[in-house]
Amino acid sequence: MTTERYQFFDHNPILPDVVEEVKQSLRETPKRLPPKYFYDEYGSALFEQITELPEYYLTRTEIEILNENKEELSRTIDKSCCLIEYGSGSSRKVRSLIDAIDPRFYVPVDISKEHLHTSAKAIHDDFDSLHVYPTCADYTEAIQLPDAIDGAPRCGFFPGSSIGNFERDDASLFLVNLARDIGPGGHCIIGFDSRKPKAILEPAYNDTQGVTASFNLNLLTHLNRTIGTDFKPTQFRHHAFYDESLGRIEMHLISETEQTVTLDDERFQIARNEAIHTENSYKYSLTDVQELASKAGMSLVTHWQDSKAWFYVALLRVPDDIQSGDS
Ligand code: AVJ
Repeated sequence: MTTERYQFFDHNPILPDVVEEVKQSLRETPKRLPPKYFYDEYGSALFEQITELPEYYLTRTEIEILNENKEELSRTIDKSCCLIEYGSGSSRKVRSLIDAIDPRFYVPVDISKEHLHTSAKAIHDDFDSLHVYPTCADYTEAIQLPDAIDGAPRCGFFPGSSIGNFERDDASLFLVNLARDIGPGGHCIIGFDSRKPKAILEPAYNDTQGVTASFNLNLLTHLNRTIGTDFKPTQFRHHAFYDESLGRIEMHLISETEQTVTLDDERFQIARNEAIHTENSYKYSLTDVQELASKAGMSLVTHWQDSKAWFYVALLRVPDDIQSGDS
């Protein structure tokens, strides 16, 4: 019996009620807007541009780390495993990992159906014997994995410092779910941006070409178009800084004028110089990574880093099942 090498699993993730979520975020003090709304088509293109910026070292450093440690990766991760990628997006980084570990299955998990299908198909076409099972689901909730992967050892993959968008407690909750997906003895590979001096971190979020500023401001344009808010994007400016004690970059949009924003029949007063908090990007020391892993009941097996230790690719493991024995 042959199994199809490509199968799409649609779990019909419940899409958020954007209007309600935006209203709630704007009712808070300080006002807030969720970073997931950066990524309309233009925002995703801007993010791609960000990854190419000289100041934004994260993406290229992580790819370099993955490429330079292929041998050790292939020795450490079970060949013929099932590689599960959380929030696979364009499935760009996973290619060098597939090259390195030669998994039998690749399960990209993403909430955006069309994008998932397109990028999963491309992986299917490029890797001859790989079984590709894209799974459309919300990875912040428990996910249901395809039956066909049963029995294969599992390896999770969460690159790009995406984990940095979670509050620290939510990051450990995410890992608890991930640990359940990969099961006893399972591995996961996670990309962390390290804590480092302001002088390196701040330019990465304040590039001289202003791409990050456009990316931040596009959130308003996106919401104006999709839910009918009436933000005046030209009257906001981008503001990003590193809070060293919290170990996070904060991004804000600061209103340069007093303005009223209307959504349905609700009005939001925004004062001159008032900030709307749009993103946190948490940075992790190795101790932070260790602490996070242990909170989720996992251990840090090893990590790989670039020569400057600007980025870590960490390998975490779920302990084997504890046998209860007779006594
Ligand atoms: C996609 C969350 C990893 O925090 O560096 C880049 C997003 N924001 N520039 C990050 C982002 C501004 C990025 N992550």
